[in-house]
Amino acid sequence: MTATAPVLPRWFTDVLESPGVRWNARERHPGMLNLKSCELQHPVSDRLVREAAAALDTPDLRSYPYQDVILDVLSAHHRVSRDRLLLTAGSDGAIGLLVDALARAAGRLLLGEPVFEGWPYYAALRGVPTTRVTTLAGSPPRYDLAPLAEAMAAATGPSVVALSNPGSPSGIVASPHAVEELAELAERYGHILVVDECFGDFVGVSHTGLLDRYAQLVVVHSYSKSFALAGLRIASVLAAPEVVEYLSRFRPDSAVSAAAVSMLGRVVGQTGQFRAVWRDVAAIRSRFAAAVRTAHPDWQALAPGANFVTFVTGHLDVPHALATHLAGRGVRIRPLTGLPGLDGCVRFSLASDAEMRHVASLVAEFRPP
Ligand SMILES: Cc1ncc(COP(=O)(O)O)c(C=O)c1O
Repeated sequence: MTATAPVLPRWFTDVLESPGVRWNARERHPGMLNLKSCELQHPVSDRLVREAAAALDTPDLRSYPYQDVILDVLSAHHRVSRDRLLLTAGSDGAIGLLVDALARAAGRLLLGEPVFEGWPYYAALRGVPTTRVTTLAGSPPRYDLAPLAEAMAAATGPSVVALSNPGSPSGIVASPHAVEELAELAERYGHILVVDECFGDFVGVSHTGLLDRYAQLVVVHSYSKSFALAGLRIASVLAAPEVVEYLSRFRPDSAVSAAAVSMLGRVVGQTGQFRAVWRDVAAIRSRFAAAVRTAHPDWQALAPGANFVTFVTGHLDVPHALATHLAGRGVRIRPLTGLPGLDGCVRFSLASDAEMRHVASLVAEFRPP
């Protein structure tokens, strides 16, 4: 008897084709300095994370997680009541949840571009109709939220509206007044406004103070970057208690490990030391930007940046050529040409001062094509 190849049912092969989405897992690049994904790389945060990991105890790994203590810690840290907090497996997990639970129900997603890739990805996966509106204008780019405001007013029905502030990967910041105007528009037109403040801690930007006034505002706050916990996958969604209660029905707590809960509690307890790290990161950023501009005086560093710095080079092909130059010397960075409003831009995440001095010397050797 000849063996026949196993066959998947027809409905499943249809499902495989339908969303038009493919996911490629993250690839390791051994021996390369990763200045692409904005993990916090600093000797002091490395030590603080190492100490928090060393303090993990058997129950943190053996037992199911309890969130009561961490929610009290985060409630004090973010100055919001506990019923406004929901933990997720990273902001990526939060964004998937917000698309599933809110954007699908609302019927559409309005993205203020450039926005974290998870938004269009999960929207495509879930078949949520999406409108993408560029929020950057000019060169060097600055925030111009008027087109997003117009799209919110013109939307034919309720939408989930997503914006990153600080901007990622631009590293610029929208004024509190401009974000508040969007929150007001969300109230007026029945939308939910989601602000992703992934890099806010580095530059003292937070939107949680608006939550008391705007029930239709949702804030996503990652601990991956500012508290150096990208590998643990933990973030908060901060919102009206009714929104938190509704989102909790999707059981994001089942994807947040006891180890993540325990370590987050410990590092948040060291916020004072992390603040000093964020200040030092700002100093490293200034020195690196100055060194790069000495070599390439026509490039501009976008301010304020975060634990990254984005340069406007003024030429479409320079970012990829520079990325190739650095890749050949063991450094990965992110060219931004092709992203709305960021043509000709290139982003470096920051590492230690010594590493950034080395990278600056490699950038100085680069000759634009
Ligand atoms: C703007 C922005 N939002 C969200 C994320 C995802 O962060 P997390 O590690 O919390 O999933 C990133 C990661 O780079 C990001 O840049």
